[in-house]
Amino acid sequence: IPVKAFDLVLFGATGDLAQRKIWPGLFHRFVAGQFDEHSRILGVSRSDLDQAAFRKKVAKSIEDPKADKDLIEKFLEHVDYISIDATGERGWDALAQAVRPDTVRAFYLSVAPRFFGPIARRLEKFGIATPDSRIVVEKPFGHDLESAKTLNEELRACFQEHQIYRIDHYLGKETVQNLMALRFANSLFEPLWNSSQIDHVQITVAESLSVEGRGEYYDQSGAMRDMVQNHLMQLLCLTAMEPPSKFTPNAVRNEKLKVIEALEPVPPSDIARGQYRAFGEQGSYRDHSGNPDSTTESFIAMKVEVANWRWAGTPFYLRTGKCLRQRLSEIAVFFRNPPHMIFPGAETPQGNVLVIRLQPDEGMTLHTTIKDPGPGGMRLTEASLDMTFADSLKGSEQPQDAYERLIMDVIRGDQTLFMRGDEVESAWAWADPIIAGWTERKTKPQQYDVGSAGPEDALLLMHKDGRRWRSIGA
Ligand code: BG6
Repeated sequence: IPVKAFDLVLFGATGDLAQRKIWPGLFHRFVAGQFDEHSRILGVSRSDLDQAAFRKKVAKSIEDPKADKDLIEKFLEHVDYISIDATGERGWDALAQAVRPDTVRAFYLSVAPRFFGPIARRLEKFGIATPDSRIVVEKPFGHDLESAKTLNEELRACFQEHQIYRIDHYLGKETVQNLMALRFANSLFEPLWNSSQIDHVQITVAESLSVEGRGEYYDQSGAMRDMVQNHLMQLLCLTAMEPPSKFTPNAVRNEKLKVIEALEPVPPSDIARGQYRAFGEQGSYRDHSGNPDSTTESFIAMKVEVANWRWAGTPFYLRTGKCLRQRLSEIAVFFRNPPHMIFPGAETPQGNVLVIRLQPDEGMTLHTTIKDPGPGGMRLTEASLDMTFADSLKGSEQPQDAYERLIMDVIRGDQTLFMRGDEVESAWAWADPIIAGWTERKTKPQQYDVGSAGPEDALLLMHKDGRRWRSIGA
């Protein structure tokens, strides 16, 4: 469905994220027919480029060998460029003249957070921001509660909350939204979705890549700030939240906020931090971060308690890390064992586990226990009800990349998949004391092997509760 004509002003138009995600995403939506013929994208950056040179750069970032050259040309006709000094005066008048009345105005700040305030102020000062224009910001949204509050204040000084779109690209992933469909569009699971029926939940976002190339940023951040405070927190919220009364941005975000507010502080004994060591040709975390004494974690596992009526007694175990065995993200819901086993001598191979896979092979698997076929008495074994979305939904439109969906949601004015300011602050309010805990005690992360499932401590974290992590790949 085409969206209304828009002027999308993209700050940081030549930056890494724009080249990797935003331009290709916009091009795909153009090809899908979602652009009104009057829609335009105004690329903005400091570089002194002319229109032709800029369009060439954009064409290069699209780099889709399957793309029809004519289509790329047609897309580029929607693209213009303005060179602006984000913290000075240059270029702003030109931008003010370039944006048109009667179109949706969106300002996408694909720039470092220190530019959020200066850009927002200039958008207001030069009369470019209108009461219904939108401002989109990328993570990191602060590195602690205080900095997040400052960013919120800077944005809110010029824009109202309903105009601010804070991106967490995990919310744009197909399966993440499917989690809501699974829970709230089916009657099967919700009656079981509580601590009487669920023993525990494991949320894993494992990555095989190292931090090489972005070590300087990463070393200031670590897995807790880079992944847990935002992406894993969002997965936790969508898994644990109460059903919203309707699918509207604030109804959904109110419920997510309640989950964050119900999180207990996490004691050090429930946290395992790791750092990958060198392996063959590949350097260690410390090599990649350029900091030989770094105590920043490239892996973290933790046990989180959601202290409310629904979840008391059902822990959520979170883990994420770099250089692990495989790229694998999933939410695994472990149901309790049957209260009484009627098959003498039969062992329960594995209880019921519902696995929601985010990547790779987006889909769902429900592990069940069945009779082992054939003679030999009542022996039990495990069988899976397996659904890979790509197979089940053959013929329907391919899932969009998270960024494509989110950018189009901005144009449509739908904030459901964006973080509200209070959500971000609340997530930091929970994360800050945890980080302060290990910073004050000067604890060091444990080393782990590249290609492993993380450090030994992460295994022990589970063992002491008599549980086991699901494996990260073979
Ligand atoms: C980013 C983090 O937000 O998410 C990266 O900064 C991480 O460190 C990335 O690699 C993971 O995203 P995805 O979509 O590849 O799982």
